[in-house]
Amino acid sequence: MSKSSEQLAERALARVPGGVNSNVRLSAAEYFFARGEGARIWDVDGKEYIDYALGQGPMLLGHSHAGINGAVAMACADGMVYGAQHPLEVLAAERFCEAVGWAERVRFGMTGSEVVHAALRLARAVTGREQIVRVTGHYHGWGDTVLLDLAATEPVPASVGQPAAALDGTRLVPWSDVDALRRALADGDVAAVIMEPVMFNSGAFPPAAGYLQEVRRACDEHGTILIFDEVITGFRLALGGAVEHFGVTPDLATYGKAMAGGWPVAAFAGRADLMDRLGDGTINHAGTFNASVMASAAVVATLAVLEADPPYERLNAYGVELMAQLGELAQRRRVPLRIEGLPVAFTVALEPAVGGGALQLHRALADAGIWTTGRGLWFVSDAHRTDELRDTVARVDAALARLGSASEHGDVALA
Ligand SMILES: Cc1ncc(COP(=O)(O)O)c(C=O)c1O
Repeated sequence: MSKSSEQLAERALARVPGGVNSNVRLSAAEYFFARGEGARIWDVDGKEYIDYALGQGPMLLGHSHAGINGAVAMACADGMVYGAQHPLEVLAAERFCEAVGWAERVRFGMTGSEVVHAALRLARAVTGREQIVRVTGHYHGWGDTVLLDLAATEPVPASVGQPAAALDGTRLVPWSDVDALRRALADGDVAAVIMEPVMFNSGAFPPAAGYLQEVRRACDEHGTILIFDEVITGFRLALGGAVEHFGVTPDLATYGKAMAGGWPVAAFAGRADLMDRLGDGTINHAGTFNASVMASAAVVATLAVLEADPPYERLNAYGVELMAQLGELAQRRRVPLRIEGLPVAFTVALEPAVGGGALQLHRALADAGIWTTGRGLWFVSDAHRTDELRDTVARVDAALARLGSASEHGDVALA
């Protein structure tokens, strides 16, 4: 670690528990970044990295997007929050529903965790049922009623301080297992099924062919609300997210991350007859900063960019090429890398996952100037172009060469 990072980490520890403001970042507490532009970020000592963490997904259009940031700055120069409405939030809602293509109503929030909370409450309220069915390995935020160990097959608390009773209404089923899902719904007491349409929080696994269609059918048969958690897939798989990509429409969906160019905005959206129940005041959803001028301007500007020049073909082409080249490098360097997922977001893992394997790879890549998520999920942005592909391949090659030679010296256990 560099001197500046070390000093900052020390200062952070003195005031910020663990030195981080999200426990997800505990494993990278000593990294401090000062600047980002396009697909590249610079740490506090000026070292440059090609960024595949993208802030855990939000920077779909790259860092410091001048058009989006300019629109937000202009909008908020005249005011930010009013405790009442602003014209931009109406425009943001209209543009949002048009962009996703299926939702009739939307409410904005700030984080994925809170809009998941709101969607589940709405589903319980309109069905009068308490049970929620969800999938092992899927993540829906850090709230008491949803936080689970990703490997958990039983709904037991994942955090000290999380009341066990908060998970009483939760049933877990395995990913892509239609029979298990049907069994979980059979008693007709389930308010909602919530799932990531692509499992992106434990590896990167698309649904089995036909699975989402079967889930849709089973929910309809049992009067259960289907919620897609599109916090990662939304605006990333397509403008219309997983709904457009897979052609399956939920009743409600949650969004966050990529919808606002890095500005903190989230949303839950869906059928008018469900969402409108929020309007009579009996089902509570609130938030001081919801649909602030900044948030609304960021949504409008981001959607305008995505619609004017859709990045999806470019994202896919880049991801396909990068996955292929990483595979070739791993073979050439005889480093057992497992690369899987979709071109727009995929995992790169050392195989077999030796103790601390994900972190070991993360560190080696960071040393070589490649920044990824600690768990090995790589996000692709529209700012990743030919230069980034060339530089990425060269840097990963250097990282793998070092990992390979470390293994020859017995420092790293590679297969
Ligand atoms: C699928 C999914 N849902 C919900 C969340 C929670 O979102 P946030 O971290 O904005 O609270 C995440 C975060 O990674 C996520 O991946």
